[in-house]
Amino acid sequence: MTIRLSENTPEQSSLIIPLVAGAHLPASLEAISQKFGLTNTSIAQHFKATKGAVIPLYPNNLQNIFLLGLGSQVDAMTCLSAFQGLSHQYKKQLSKTVCIDWEVAFANSSESELARWIEAGTNGLLLGTYAIGKYKSQASQGHPLQQESAGIYLNSPFKESAALLSAASAGRQTADTQMRILDMVNAPGNKLRPIDMAHWVAESAQRHHYKVRIIEKEEAQKIGLQALLAVNRGSEWPPAFIIAEYEPSENSGDLPHFGLVGKGVTFDTGGLSIKGANNMHYMKSDMGGAAAVLGSIELCARLQIPARVTAIVPTTDNCVDAMSIKPGDIIGSYSGKTIEVIDTDAEGRLILADGLAYMEKHFAPDVMIDLATLTGSCVRALGYHAAGLFTQNDQLADALREAARVSGEGLWRLPLWEAYQKDLESDVADIKNLGGPVAGAITAAKFLENFTSHHPCWAHMDIAGVAFGNSIFSQQKSATAYGIRLLTQLIRSWKP
Ligand code: BES
Ligand code: ZN
Ligand code: ZN
Repeated sequence: MTIRLSENTPEQSSLIIPLVAGAHLPASLEAISQKFGLTNTSIAQHFKATKGAVIPLYPNNLQNIFLLGLGSQVDAMTCLSAFQGLSHQYKKQLSKTVCIDWEVAFANSSESELARWIEAGTNGLLLGTYAIGKYKSQASQGHPLQQESAGIYLNSPFKESAALLSAASAGRQTADTQMRILDMVNAPGNKLRPIDMAHWVAESAQRHHYKVRIIEKEEAQKIGLQALLAVNRGSEWPPAFIIAEYEPSENSGDLPHFGLVGKGVTFDTGGLSIKGANNMHYMKSDMGGAAAVLGSIELCARLQIPARVTAIVPTTDNCVDAMSIKPGDIIGSYSGKTIEVIDTDAEGRLILADGLAYMEKHFAPDVMIDLATLTGSCVRALGYHAAGLFTQNDQLADALREAARVSGEGLWRLPLWEAYQKDLESDVADIKNLGGPVAGAITAAKFLENFTSHHPCWAHMDIAGVAFGNSIFSQQKSATAYGIRLLTQLIRSWKP
C-alpha cells in the first residue's frame, strides 16, 4: 500500500469527496459538477451531506466518484465511521487506488485540523476492508484496498505537507492494528488460547521492536500468581502471564511511564457458578481488555510515541471441571492477600488482582490503567454506548475523558467511594470477590483497588458493554477494538 500527497491518480481509480453539510454545500456541489461535467442537477436536491450519506457517481468509465457526507459538525469518529461505511458498503465498486479530495470542502481548514480528519478518514477507509469470516473454508472476495499494489492519494490545500502524510500513515497503522485486534477478539475460545495470545504478542513485539516476556505456568507457581492459577484450575490449557514493554528507539530521557493491565479471559463459562446458555458464546470476547491493551502497545510502538508503555495480560479461560475452584474456596494472590471466592464467575477481578499487584511491585508506572470486560452490572448501567470509568484521581479522569472525547469512544465516570469497601469484607479471608446485590460494577472496581497498593494515579475501565457489539461486519455481535484509539490518544497527549 502506498500513500501519496497527489491528485494525479492512475487510471481506473476511485475518487472520494468528503463533504460537510451546511451553507457551503451548494457551492461545493456546483464546483464538483463543473469539474466533472455533471449535468445531473438533482444531486443538490438529494445529497445533504448528512453523516455517512454516500452518492456514487459514474461520470465516465475512467473513474468512480463517491460523494461522502460528514454531517455539519465534523469530528474524528464521524469521519472514521463515514469512511468505514463507504469502504465496506462499496467494496465492489471501489478501485485499488483511491484518491480522497480534501480540497473541495476543507479549503479553509488549518493543517492540524485537516491532519485529524485525514488520520480518521484513512483509518476508516482501511478499517472498512475488514472481513470477519476468517474460519470459513472459502474466503470471501477480498477488498481492493487490501491488494499489495493498492494506493491512497490525498489531494488537499497543503500540497507537500509532511504532517498530512504522517497523519494518513498513522491512520493506516491504526486500522491495521485494529483489524488484528478484531481478529483476536472475534476468535473463539478454541482458536485463541492463552498460548495463542502469548504467541501473538511475541510476534508483534518482534515485528515492531518492543520487548516481551511470557511467564508460563511453572514459573507462575514459583512466583505466586495464585489468583490467576486458581481461575486456571478448571482449564484444559495452562495460563500465561504476558509482560510487554515498549519505549521509543530513540529514548529522549525522562518519558512518562504507562502501565496497562488487561483482562485476558479467553472464554468465560462462569466456572462452577456457571452462566446460562443464552449468549454464552459471546464470552469468547472476555479478553477484550487484554486486546485493547495489546493493541495499544503495538500501536504506540508502530507510531514511535514518546512514552514508556508496559502492558501486562494475565490470561486463562474460566471452565468447569472437577479441578475447578468452588464457591467458598479461599485462595491466595500475588499481593499476599487471601480471597474468599463467593462466585467463580467473578473471575476477571481475580486474575486482574495479580496483574495489578505485579505491575505496581515491579514497574511502579506513573500511570496505571486496567481495562476489563468485568461486569454485566456496568452494561446494565451504561448500555452499549460507554465504558465505566473508576478512579480516585480527578486529573487522570479528566485526561481519560478528554482522550475519549477526541477518539469518539464513550466513557462515563462512576464513583469509587470508601462506603463500597464494606460490601467486600469477608469473615474468613482478607476480602471476598463478590459485593452486595447492587452496584456490581462499583464493587468490582473497589475490589481491584485493593490490589493497587494505593497507586496515586490508577484508573479502571469496565468495557463489558463496548468491547463487543453490533457492527457493520457481522450479523451477530462482534468485536469493536474499543480502547486502542482512546489509550493511544491518552498516551500521545499526556502532559504530566
Ligand atoms: N465476563 C463477565 C462480565 C460480562 C458480562 C462481560 C456481560 C461482557 C458482557 C464477568 O466475568 C462476569 O461474569 N461477571 C459477573 C459478576 C458477578 C458474578 C458478580 C456478572 O457481571 O454477572
Ligand atoms: Zn465471569
Ligand atoms: Zn469474565
